Amino acid sequence: MNIGVFDSGLGGLTIFKALLQQLPQYNYVYLGDNARVPYGNRSAETIYQFTKQALEFLFKHDCLLIIIACNTSTATTLRRIQTELLPQHHPDKHVLGIIKPVVETVAASTARRVGVIATRATVESGSFIRELKKENPAVAVFQNAGPLLVPFIEEGELKGPVLQTVLKRYIDPLLRHGIDHLILGCTHYGLIKPAVQQAIGNKVKVMTEEEVVAQKLRSYLKKHPEVETKLGKTTQRRFFITDYSPRYQNLVRLFLGNHFQDHHRLELVKLT
Ligand code: DGL
Repeated sequence: MNIGVFDSGLGGLTIFKALLQQLPQYNYVYLGDNARVPYGNRSAETIYQFTKQALEFLFKHDCLLIIIACNTSTATTLRRIQTELLPQHHPDKHVLGIIKPVVETVAASTARRVGVIATRATVESGSFIRELKKENPAVAVFQNAGPLLVPFIEEGELKGPVLQTVLKRYIDPLLRHGIDHLILGCTHYGLIKPAVQQAIGNKVKVMTEEEVVAQKLRSYLKKHPEVETKLGKTTQRRFFITDYSPRYQNLVRLFLGNHFQDHHRLELVKLT
């Protein structure tokens, strides 16, 4: 059986790349709903319906375990998926999000004043605040939505003065709270980490999710041999997207580097 990786678009490929680097032996199916990206400005109910369609698609493609590699979807849907969808319809399947891994890492560090930038829906869900406080009530959390960042990144604008201006607009209010750590709470943002570090200076530690998620998945699989032993280990990869143009081929290469090889294809799918 496969590990499924789902994102609203191509940003989840930052997480996928880390999984391929650290746990290359497994068979993976990636699904990016790029026809409907961004999810970040949509309602919680719409994000739930879209996520449910994506999970059903991945279950049909023999995924036993799915990583929701999207903060927006994790923040707004994971609890409902774990308490309704799985017990009622897929009791033998497993779905994990990506917020907990980074939250646990930050809460266990020296962080005392934590900033979060994320999509509007993630910020409005209050998920990062709730989870950080649960892990470490002494941590103060400040968040800000960065709705212009995903379009920048999807356009391949990963550096330069215009991006710096936009970043400063989102980061300066957090700096005024004296943050010592900044969580990039959107899978896309991993690609602009150098630009964020430039905008924020070197006194604040910038945390991305990809490496932490891969480490946590490794320990999850160690703790759950009943899942691990059922996973295929012949390094197969499939890439599904919901909208195709040659531009996406270039973006996938930008996100995945040499993990997207000549024999790999982007397969177009319609989610219903
Ligand atoms: N990948 C999404 C996330 O991590 C951001 C893109 C979107 O708004 O759909 O929040």
